[in-house]
Amino acid sequence: MATRLEGAPQAAPAGRSELQDLARRHLWMHFTRMSAYADHEIPMIVRGDGCYVYDEHGKRYLDGLSALFCVNAGHGRAELGEAAAQQAKELGFYTNWTFAHPRSVELAAKVAELAPGDLNRVFFTSGGSEAVESALKLARQYHKLRGEQLRYKVIARRTAYHGTTFGCLMATGITAIRSAYEPLPMGGCHVANTNRYRAPEGQDPLWPAEEIEQRILFEGPETVACVILEPVQNSGGCFTPPDGYFQRVREICDKYGVLLISDEVICSWGRLGYYWGAERYDYLPDLITTAKGITSAYAPMGAVIASDRVAEPFMEDRRMFSHGITFGGHPVSAAVALRNIQIFEDEDLCGRVRRYEPEFKAMLDRLAELPIVGDVRGAGYFWALELVKDKETKETFPLEEREELLRGFLSAELYRRGLICRADDRGEPVIQLSPPLIAGPEQFEEIESVLGSVLTEAWERVVRH
Ligand SMILES: Cc1ncc(COP(=O)(O)O)c(C=O)c1O
Repeated sequence: MATRLEGAPQAAPAGRSELQDLARRHLWMHFTRMSAYADHEIPMIVRGDGCYVYDEHGKRYLDGLSALFCVNAGHGRAELGEAAAQQAKELGFYTNWTFAHPRSVELAAKVAELAPGDLNRVFFTSGGSEAVESALKLARQYHKLRGEQLRYKVIARRTAYHGTTFGCLMATGITAIRSAYEPLPMGGCHVANTNRYRAPEGQDPLWPAEEIEQRILFEGPETVACVILEPVQNSGGCFTPPDGYFQRVREICDKYGVLLISDEVICSWGRLGYYWGAERYDYLPDLITTAKGITSAYAPMGAVIASDRVAEPFMEDRRMFSHGITFGGHPVSAAVALRNIQIFEDEDLCGRVRRYEPEFKAMLDRLAELPIVGDVRGAGYFWALELVKDKETKETFPLEEREELLRGFLSAELYRRGLICRADDRGEPVIQLSPPLIAGPEQFEEIESVLGSVLTEAWERVVRH
């Protein structure tokens, strides 16, 4: 698996900064081959402004990934810092264990107002993995409270990423992320994702939904607690659902009494042009998990949003959701989230994404004429280009060539040319783009210019050498 800058080391200039030395000695970077930086500079981002970030040498980069699908409102928003400062002065911290405080109450009410259907009950966490972990626990306890003791299994999709804690790893369908930590908690089952570019020929387009039903029957419906799906699956490269997919999954879940969790850690807060991915694809989940864009990442926060039907058994008698996280609903994060949502409303960021989506896609379609680009897929401001060795046959790159293509060339070269995006191969090799929602034609042009020349060069070096 390649992360966006892993394998993209920059030759260290003479006289490395003290920060570089301290980072090398003390910082344990996430999903990072630390050895790659033994003799090379660690990318050190020190400042952000709008769609751009700057490194310690003052070099500017177009942040085509919104940091990590997070900074939806863009960098350098002083008003979000001011909301945090104001809240810190008023009440720096109080917890949601036993107590409430105004900001978490106001935010819960605002999120419930924006959420689809009867998803009215909000449980805050500190981030996405905690949100997924909480949703999985909630699903299990929901069934137990209703007397269905055996329902513990989770159905998720192959190659999907749902976070890294042990519970989340049950659902995450990426062997390379799971195997070092096995044995994992029991109950994770995996089915096909909606990779339509590589779907078996002649199948009904809804076959990945039918696989969910088959898996529920195989496991025994009385043992299945929930199905967890992203509206557009990130890992593997922005797999969009075929028409009717989520409606069919909803029917299947209802038929067997299984909860449907929409994991919207990436796909909410305007990423797909709506507050929720479920809104874009018109389905009603039982639980939504969110994080990242809820604060545009100016403060850590995540949440599980539960329907009234799911929350109801927890509200009776002496029952409770026996789960808590000290910082869930942190007042400073909640104040930032409220201000962030106000920015969304004032600037109509969701509408903006819907307006510019066709232009974004048209630019990617032009790139798709390059011989190395096999497929363009995505929605809103969340897109992937799949790279292939042969466009006609869809032949992909063997392992060694992938290594050379992604880590040996693309990651480093894109960064060198001032574009941050993701070159990844958790499925087939893809380039992913997910810019801040304030991006527009100027940034699309920049992306096209850099990607056009770098992908052309990649083709010459790796395929035609
Ligand atoms: C769909 C999905 N679920 C869960 C997570 C985990 O979120 P976090 O990294 O905030 O723990 C991610 C992270 O990217 C994600 O994309």
